[in-house]
Amino acid sequence: MINGEAKVAGIIGMPVAHSLSPTLHNYWLKFYGLNGVYVPLPVKPENLERAIRALPALGLRGANVTVPHKETVMKFLDKIDPEAQVIGAVNTIVVGPDGSLRGSNTDVFGFTKLVRPHLPARKKRGVILGAGGAARAVCQALLKEGFTDVTITNRTPERARELVTHFNGKITSQPWENRANTLRDADILVNATSVSTVGSQPFDIELGQLPNTALVVDISYAGAITALLDLARARGNPVLGGLGMLLHQAVPGFEAWFGIRPQVTDDLAEHIMTDHG
Ligand code: ATR
Repeated sequence: MINGEAKVAGIIGMPVAHSLSPTLHNYWLKFYGLNGVYVPLPVKPENLERAIRALPALGLRGANVTVPHKETVMKFLDKIDPEAQVIGAVNTIVVGPDGSLRGSNTDVFGFTKLVRPHLPARKKRGVILGAGGAARAVCQALLKEGFTDVTITNRTPERARELVTHFNGKITSQPWENRANTLRDADILVNATSVSTVGSQPFDIELGQLPNTALVVDISYAGAITALLDLARARGNPVLGGLGMLLHQAVPGFEAWFGIRPQVTDDLAEHIMTDHG
């Protein structure tokens, strides 16, 4: 199906070898019978600007952007969507017909799509572990969903305080050492640290104070039931892994590059899991 007229997009990062995005987008391209391809584009930081400028020059439709380029890429783009400005990071670039580059961030959309059907009736208190880019997107999503009491807790307190400032005091922070107490009265708990993805030392968290009606979400690793989810499930909490977020955040980019709004289905999730275990 791929010929000389194929539409091309890809993912820019370093490393990209473990990214699920090529499997995901190529599944949709095949499913919808489209003449297109989505490729990994490993780009070192020192080559980022040249790589970004090459997107229109090479006739690409656009690209996803991942670690470590999501923030730095912003200065090489012509237009940045308001949500990406709020998050301070871009994960999707669309090349316009005139060759201009528009950046957006679809993580808030992806997280919201994942959790919305499962949110508890009371949407008041949200607790987020972590203060990186992912935590930022989760904060924004919870505030947009109407949570009025959002608290973050992070190993490095300065980063937590930076996030509170970033959101103009609409959220609060608690010391990492108090993380167990922070869970009292929570309606949702989200692990937005990178613990499972970077292979760093896992952390302990005592869930005794978390109401067992609270939704527990772990976006740290797309494919697995993590230790946190295991623990939460064993005490009766509803739980969600991060795979759904990854699948949903890909939808707007695919639609912009290839012209069809793709569906997130169980078959797709299964395909990704089979491919990446
Ligand atoms: P991302 O953009 O994916 O969120 P990031 O900006 O590198 O990635 O942020 C990673 C987050 O995971 C941070 O909140 C980090 O905590 P620090 O700010 O203290 O570094 C958190 N994190 C990573 N490893 C951790 C660990 N072993 N225990 C607790 N938090 C950890």
